[in-house]
Parts: sequence; C-alpha cells; structure tokens
Amino acid sequence: MTTSVGAGRTGVEVRLEGLERHYGATRALDGLDLTLQPGELVALLGPSGCGKTTALRILAGLDEPTVGRVVVGGKDVTNVPANQRDMGMVFQAYSLFPHLTAQDNVEFGLRLRKVDRSRRAARAREMLELVGLAHQADRYATELSGGQQQRVALARALAIEPSVLLLDEPLSALDAKVRVQLRDEIRRVQLEVGTTTLFVTHDQEEALAMADRVGVMSQGTLQQLDTPQELYAHPANPFVADFVGLMNRVPAQVSGGRARVLGADVATLDGSLADGTGVALVRPEHLTVTPDEQGPAEVVDVQFSGAVSRVRLRTGAAGDGAEGAELVAQLSGSRLRGLEPGTRATLGLDVDRVLVTGA
Ligand SMILES: Nc1ncnc2c1ncn2[C@@H]1O[C@H](COP(=O)(O)OP(=O)(O)OP(=O)(O)O)[C@@H](O)[C@H]1O
Ligand SMILES: [Mg+2]
Repeated sequence: MTTSVGAGRTGVEVRLEGLERHYGATRALDGLDLTLQPGELVALLGPSGCGKTTALRILAGLDEPTVGRVVVGGKDVTNVPANQRDMGMVFQAYSLFPHLTAQDNVEFGLRLRKVDRSRRAARAREMLELVGLAHQADRYATELSGGQQQRVALARALAIEPSVLLLDEPLSALDAKVRVQLRDEIRRVQLEVGTTTLFVTHDQEEALAMADRVGVMSQGTLQQLDTPQELYAHPANPFVADFVGLMNRVPAQVSGGRARVLGADVATLDGSLADGTGVALVRPEHLTVTPDEQGPAEVVDVQFSGAVSRVRLRTGAAGDGAEGAELVAQLSGSRLRGLEPGTRATLGLDVDRVLVTGA
C-alpha cells in the first residue's frame, strides 16, 4: 500500500534533559537523559513503576518535570502546554469516542484545528487506508475489535501530522496474536510517515522487534540506550542483562525478505535486511523439541526445575548454516517425556515470535 502521507517529511529531534519528577519522597524520574534522532522509533523498556509513563507524559506536556528540560526540534518546550505541542498519542486503554464512527474519530483532531470539511474527510480516509481500515470507516468504535480500535487510534494520532508520536503500551490489552500483527503494522506505518516516535512497553520482545533503539529504564533513570542487537550482545550492566533475558542466537539464511531458521520459513520485517547470513533471536520458550531418531539435533542436558525445564541442545546439519549451534529450549513438564542426554530430536519454532536481525 502506498500513500502520499509522509512524502518528503522527516521527523524532529527530541531531547529529554536531566528530567526529574518528584512525588513526595518518590522519584518517578531521577535524572533521565534521552535523545531521539529525527524519525527514530525508540522503545522505553523497563519494569512496572520505573518511570516510563511519567517520561512520556512529560514529553507530551501532560505533566511537568520538577527539574530538567524538554527540547523538540531545537526548541525548549518545557513550559509549552500540551495542546500546543503538536504530538499524537495512543494509550493502552481504548480511547476512541464510542458514539462516533471510525471516520469521525480520525477527523476529531482536524475538526478542533478547524480544517475544512472536505480536506478533513480526505485526510481521515487516507489515514484509515494507511492502517488498513478504510472499509470500516463507517463503523462505530463499539463495533470494532480491540485491534481495530487501536488501529483507528493510531490513524487519529497521525491525522494531525504530529511532529512526535507517543505510544504508551498500545498493545498490552490485545491477545498475543493480534499484538504481534499490530506491532509489525505500527512499525510499518511509522517507517512510512517518518515521525519521531517514543514507544513505551514492559515487553522486551516487543521493544526488540520494533525499535531502532531501545532504552532500558530502572528507577527513574536510563540504564542503556542501544540498538536491539547491541542491547542483547553487550548489555551495559547486570540489570540490563537480566531484564533483557536469555535468547538463542541461531544462524539464519535471509533471502528476499524471508529467512530459513532451523528448517523453518520466517518472515523478516519488510526491507530491513539484505540477503545473506543473518541471526535469528529465538527465546527458549518459543522452541519445541520432539524426540526423533532421524532428527538433526541432540539433547546435551536437561535441567529440571518445576513446572518448566530447560533443555540444552546441539543442532546438526539441516542445511541452513546452524550446524553445531547450542540452543536452550524451555519446556513444560509434559513435553519433556522421552528427552534425555543423547536423545536425537527435531526442533520446531514459533515462527511468529522469531526476530531476524543482521549478522
Ligand atoms: N500522580 C502520582 N502521584 C504519586 N506517585 C506517582 C504518580 N504517578 C506516578 N507515580 C509514581 O511514580 C513512579 C513511576 O510511575 P510510572 O507510571 O511512570 O511507571 P511506569 O514505568 O509507567 O509503570 P507501568 O509499567 O506499571 O505502567 C511509580 O513509583 C509511581 O507510583
Ligand atoms: Mg506506565
């Protein structure tokens, strides 16, 4: 799908400088420095209560820092009210007006800005097309699924051509499958319009899959800001290493936007990878292990630990460059049957959950 939406437009630089936000004795932010490059999507990742929403609200102008500055496109906007900051927002909870259609929801911000009726309608239609919902334009918000409502919310946020897009856990109320679809969709749209975007999540997989760079926060400060690959390969400290967690790195053969990973066919994010050898990031819980005398993998050891156990494996020749790779699979008790050191096995993977990156 192509539209003229973002043609020729580039995002602005966003700088959060030394932000502190005190609530009595609590420091929701404790010296947060973060710069987003023009057009970049940064995911803020961190445990509950670390200050992610506070940072986003201060950037939006919905809250004020106790100390520090917000600079957008080189201009200090720390004291500029929210309605003059030119930012589009999507939140976790469905926030559409239920008594309005999708079309009218998307037109809402344009109406406030006194855009004339025909331009308003055309722009809203263009935005609904961008998120793949043009055919649902006349549905009321209450007649749309959760995922569709969030698409409309995204269209509404982008309709005003914001300089910055802010997303606070927009996918967390959706079920796993829709969540993965919509995260890829949001990233596609964001690349297309080129708007500088701050995406808040506590889901590391989501952050790693979508972002140009991921900022890991703890207790009101930034622990590390890096590309997903760097964050995984070189965590700056134990907090980051622990929070980002264990992932298998499996050689992948990339060709024409798809990748062969352990014999399976996996989609890569459009246009993000050149043909050749890449690396697939596979979490232990997304691997399945089936005993099979002819299987290309071999169990090295099994660590029992209650409801879930970890199985270490070595892969054999499967013609995809992964020979001799060591992998860890996490399996529930019943799946362990028949697996012991030396057992040969076939590996499966949840292809929807695999992230393929450059080598
Ligand atoms: N209005 C408020 N009054 C007092 N304390 C607050 C207020 N808003 C946030 N806090 C505190 O500030 C800290 C950071 O909150 P924030 O909402 O930014 O966390 P978060 O990272 O978004 O967490 P979550 O992942 O649960 O959404 C928390 O300790 C929270 O209790
Ligand atoms: Mg929050």
